[in-house]
Amino acid sequence: MQSKNHFARHNKLRSSFLKRFYSLIPLAGLFLLLAACDTPQNTFVTRSDSTQRIYDIYIFVIWAAALVGAFVLLGMAYILIKFRARPGRKAQQIHGHTGLEITWTVIPILILLSIAIPTVLWVAQTQDEPDSNVLEITAVGKQWWFEFKYPGLGPDGSELVTANELHIPVGRQVAITLESDNVIHSFWVPQLVGKTDMVPGRQNKLEKFTATEPGVYYGQCAEFCGSAHALMRFRVHVDTTGGFDRWVESMNAMPSTPLPGSVESLGKTVFELAGGCSGCHAINGTPAMGIIGPNLTLFGERGTLGSGILDNNGSNLKQWVSNLRDLKPVPEEGSGLMPTFHQGNPETDLLTEAQIDQVVAYLQSLKR
Ligand code: CUA
Repeated sequence: MQSKNHFARHNKLRSSFLKRFYSLIPLAGLFLLLAACDTPQNTFVTRSDSTQRIYDIYIFVIWAAALVGAFVLLGMAYILIKFRARPGRKAQQIHGHTGLEITWTVIPILILLSIAIPTVLWVAQTQDEPDSNVLEITAVGKQWWFEFKYPGLGPDGSELVTANELHIPVGRQVAITLESDNVIHSFWVPQLVGKTDMVPGRQNKLEKFTATEPGVYYGQCAEFCGSAHALMRFRVHVDTTGGFDRWVESMNAMPSTPLPGSVESLGKTVFELAGGCSGCHAINGTPAMGIIGPNLTLFGERGTLGSGILDNNGSNLKQWVSNLRDLKPVPEEGSGLMPTFHQGNPETDLLTEAQIDQVVAYLQSLKR
């Protein structure tokens, strides 16, 4: 009777285990599916000397840990089987074994040293003198976007300023100084360079790095910084050397004036007068010289808007200029925040839909 019960219980356990096991199959399928996704923030796909070095150390540590794990588990299995209790055999009592104790002290020391040496060397190397042709940049964390400044690359040796889309040349070392004038943000481009905080009242030096392949890379604020933290993104354009020089040149070139009476020309007027946009935004070579909001020079060339959250196209831009609060959890109007310009209420709207369309056309026309 007792053994019948035992089998019933055993079967029940078995079937509940199988049920649980089968329920994992769709989950495993999902994993496979997601593994095929585009992963632009994948730190295993390295695109700079810095991330490659970290990757090498990481892979070495994984292998060392896997070997230690395999050795310990196999050794344990061997010992458990070989020395298990058997009838007629008495366990042998051992007290101390000098040889064994030295072995299991020395081997871990060697393993830890082999991990520590490349790690410490790498940390030390981040403090090396920069290359002679290093490109210096200052990145400033704002709520909620990124400003990038290139000392000396503006007209007559002044500062060149852009926002949310950083341009750097391939194969040339970049040294970025990180700042914030509000709260703590964190600068992170997983494929190019590791995270470093942007702290108010302090200048943090991001580890110097050299990008190895032209392309567009995703960046992200990695420190909770308020309501729109998750939507505080940016892009890094790694240009060819010539491409970077041309970008700098176009940023400093005088933009062509839109044809009088054209929709772009009307938009320029709204931008500079009726909308008051130029109070906060600058467009190099025009009367717009505001410094509170993102610099919009060559805005039509950018791939994204709203700090890297949306594709830069006419309909997204129209929605953004009309009411960015539909797209991003930005507090109601306050100092330093862009107002809501158009919600379809003539009583409160600051700009009409036609004026919004004109501003959109003007911003899109800001190309080389
Ligand atoms: Cu800035 Cu999170």
